[in-house]
Amino acid sequence: MAFTIDAVAQQVRNFLLQDQGPAGRERVRVYLQDVVSDQEFANQYLDDAQPQRRVLYEDADLGFAILGHVFKEARKAPPHDHGVSWAIYGQVAGVTTMDGWDVVEAGEGTVRLRDSIELTPGNVRVYNENEIHSPRREGPAKLIRIEGNPSQNPPGRVWQPVQ
Ligand SMILES: [Fe+2]
Repeated sequence: MAFTIDAVAQQVRNFLLQDQGPAGRERVRVYLQDVVSDQEFANQYLDDAQPQRRVLYEDADLGFAILGHVFKEARKAPPHDHGVSWAIYGQVAGVTTMDGWDVVEAGEGTVRLRDSIELTPGNVRVYNENEIHSPRREGPAKLIRIEGNPSQNPPGRVWQPVQ
């Protein structure tokens, strides 16, 4: 059965209404694995001609937003967190390597690489408040991403990697 954005938004809402903390996000993560594996959903909501970032749904009540991302070429973001917000990354096509970082010196804003995971199509990962991460891609990719509270999220913080 193909998912629709309205049905997905309603289901995410229900999970978050039950628990807006990490446990509720984990239920969203598990659910999204099926959504991002649905080729019909991808075809309908992730258009090759769209901009890199497109808002598919915004929830004025709970504050979260569902975004569709279509990246046409390789890209590497710096280590960052989302401040008081959280984010869920769901891979639809291509591969995203997610680096995870530990703080070395908060005052100086330095971090050290802790681990790297690969998100392949169907994989979904939650980043909770203040969790430092950086996505990189060797080629084109498509993602569904949920931002927990983007309105409280002027840009979070960008960190400086050290050895
Ligand atoms: Fe992020």
